[in-house]
Amino acid sequence: TADPLVLFMPSGKRGHFPVGTSVLEAARTLGVYVESVCGGRATCGRCQIEVQEGQFAKHGITSSNDHISPVGPKEKRYAEVRTIPQGRRLSCSATIQGDLVVDVPQDAVVNAQVVRKAASDRVIERNPAVHLCYVEVDEPDMHKPLGDLDRMKVMLERDWGYTDLQIEPYLLAQAQKILRKENFTVTAAIHRDSVTSRPTVIALWPGLHNEAYGIACDIGSTTIAMHLVSLLSGRIVASSGASNPQIRFGEDLMSRVSYVMMNPDGREAMTKAVRQAVSELVDQVCASGGVARTDILDAVFVANPIMHHLFLGIDPTELGQAPFALAVSGAISCKALDIELSLNPGARTYLLPCIAGHVGADAAGATLSEGPHRQDKMMLMVDVGTNAEIVLGNRERTVAASSPTGPAFEGAEISCGQRAAPGAIERVRIDPETLEPRFKVIGVEQWSDEDGFTEAAEKTGITGICGSAIIEVVAEMYLSGVISADGVVDGAMAAKSPRILENGRTFSYLLHDGAQKITVTQNDVRAIQLAKAALYAGIKLLMEKLEVETVDTIRFAGAFGSFIDPKYAMVLGLIPDCELSEVKAVGNAAGTGALMALLNRDHRREIEDTVTRIEKIETALEPHFQQLFIDAMALPNKVDPFPKLAS
Ligand code: FES
Repeated sequence: TADPLVLFMPSGKRGHFPVGTSVLEAARTLGVYVESVCGGRATCGRCQIEVQEGQFAKHGITSSNDHISPVGPKEKRYAEVRTIPQGRRLSCSATIQGDLVVDVPQDAVVNAQVVRKAASDRVIERNPAVHLCYVEVDEPDMHKPLGDLDRMKVMLERDWGYTDLQIEPYLLAQAQKILRKENFTVTAAIHRDSVTSRPTVIALWPGLHNEAYGIACDIGSTTIAMHLVSLLSGRIVASSGASNPQIRFGEDLMSRVSYVMMNPDGREAMTKAVRQAVSELVDQVCASGGVARTDILDAVFVANPIMHHLFLGIDPTELGQAPFALAVSGAISCKALDIELSLNPGARTYLLPCIAGHVGADAAGATLSEGPHRQDKMMLMVDVGTNAEIVLGNRERTVAASSPTGPAFEGAEISCGQRAAPGAIERVRIDPETLEPRFKVIGVEQWSDEDGFTEAAEKTGITGICGSAIIEVVAEMYLSGVISADGVVDGAMAAKSPRILENGRTFSYLLHDGAQKITVTQNDVRAIQLAKAALYAGIKLLMEKLEVETVDTIRFAGAFGSFIDPKYAMVLGLIPDCELSEVKAVGNAAGTGALMALLNRDHRREIEDTVTRIEKIETALEPHFQQLFIDAMALPNKVDPFPKLAS
C-alpha cells in the first residue's frame, strides 16, 4: 500500500511519507516553513503544529489524531517545563502514522488593529532572513586540532545543512568563552538574505537561545512608525510611533532639502535627528514588548526617497531638482551598526528599493503589500502626501509616477486648515435646500446638530478643518450647488442663505459661526482644485500609458486615505470612476510591506524584481500632463465621465 498522504495548511503543499517520518521532516522535504531552533531535540517548542480532524473529500484524505504518534517521553518532558496549547504537537517528535492534514499555525497575522482599516486579516508566511540554530559541538581534542569555531561550523553543516558559513569578525574574540559556558552547546543566529547569498553567523549564545526579534519601520516625513516582531512566531509584540524630529528643519520634504543646501551641517544634523528618533522608538517597543535590544537581529525600513537618503546619511540635494537622481535606487542590505543603529552587534538591516526619484521605498512597500503585480485586475494605488505617489498596473505591466499635489490635502494652504487633532472638523454634510451644515469634530462624540454637542464642543473648542473634511466640505458645497463645476462660489446664493459671505470680489461659505469663525473661501476651493487636478492628471497619465479607460480597484495608502470617504474623493474627481466597493483605504501599506520583507526574505526578492520592472514616468517631462491637469480642474472633470458615481 502507498505511504500516508500528508497535506500542510495553509500552504496546501502535500506529499507521501513512510510511516514513522517526523512531521517536521515532512514539512522540510516539502519546503513548508516550520520554525525549529533546537534542531528537533524537543527543547525549543517552536515547531508546533496542529492536526485537523475529519474527512477532507476534496483532497481525498481522512485525517485524525490517531494518525499521528502519541505523545512520547521527549514531548512530555517539554510539556512539563513549558505548556503546549491544547491540540498542538511538537512536529519534531510527532511522527506520521496515517493520512494527515496538518495546520501550521501562523501567528504572523497582520490584523485590522495593526493596519488601520485593513480590508481583512492577512497571513504573512514566514521565512525570515535570520534563523536560530542550536548545535552541540564536539569538545576539543589534542589529536584533532580543529579550532572551536571550525568544529561549530561542522555541526552547523551536519545538523542544519549550512555550507560555506562565514563568521562575523566581532565574534572571534568571544566565541571560546561562549562555547565553554554551557558545555560546548551554542545557539548561532545565521543570516542569509537570499538562497544564493553566503550564510553568516551574526550572533552566538551559550546553550539554547530561544528569542529572536526584528523591527519593521516606516520613516515618513511627518511620522515614524515601528513594529517589533518575533522572528520565531511572526507575532507583533509591540508597535509604536513618533513624529519625525526633522520637522523642526522644515515642514515638508522640499524645505528639508533646501535646509541641507543652505546649511553646511544640515545633512548631518537631519541624519542624526532621524537616527536618534528611530533609536528611541526601538527603546519604546523593547520596553513595551519586554524584549532586550540584543535580541533584535534584523531591521527593515521603508521611506520616501528624501527620508531614505537622509537616514542613510546621503545628501538629498540631487533629489530637489531635475532629473531627480537617486544616489542609490536598489535595495540596501547592511549591518545595523553601519547606520549607527545599536541592536544586537551582528544585527542586519534591509531597506526596500526606491522606485524613482519621487517614488520611494515606501511606495515599494505599499506595492509589496497590495500587490498590483500579483493580480489580473487593474489596480490603482495612491499614497497622498505633499507628493502623491501613484502606482498603476497588474500582473502584466506596472507604471509609477509622482504628482506634486502640494500640502492642501493635509490642511496646509487652507485658510482654516489644520492637522487632524482634537478640535478639528472631520466630517461635513450640507443640506441642499437650506445650505445649513452639520459637522463632526474630532474629540466630540456628537454631530453638531445632536443634543449635548454645544457643551462638549465648548470643552474641546472648534479650531479648524482637517484634510479629510476639506475634501468633504468642498464636495458637499458642490453637491448642494454652493460651488459650480468650475469651482466658483456662487454669489447669487447669498440671497438664499446667510452662510454665503461676501469676501471682496469672491464669496465664502460659513461653516461654523463660533468663537472662531470657520469659513471655506474661494481660495481654499482653488487650492483643493489644484491639488486634486495634479493627482488626477498623474493618474490619468499612467492610465494613458497603459492604454486603459478604467481601473478595476483602487487602494488608498497612508493616513490621508484612511480618513477620506471614497465617495467624496470621487465626487471631486480625485480618483477616476470606479465601483465604490472597490475603493479601499489600506492604512500604512508601506509599513505592512516592511513587515512582509522582514518576515519573509522571498518578499525582498519579489519587490526587488517588481521594482526593476515598474516603468517610471516623470510627470514634469510629459507634455500632455498640462492638458490633463487643466481638464481635471473642473468638478469632477471636464472631459471624463463618472458613470459609477451616478448609479
Ligand atoms: Fe525544537 Fe521541535 S524543533 S521543539
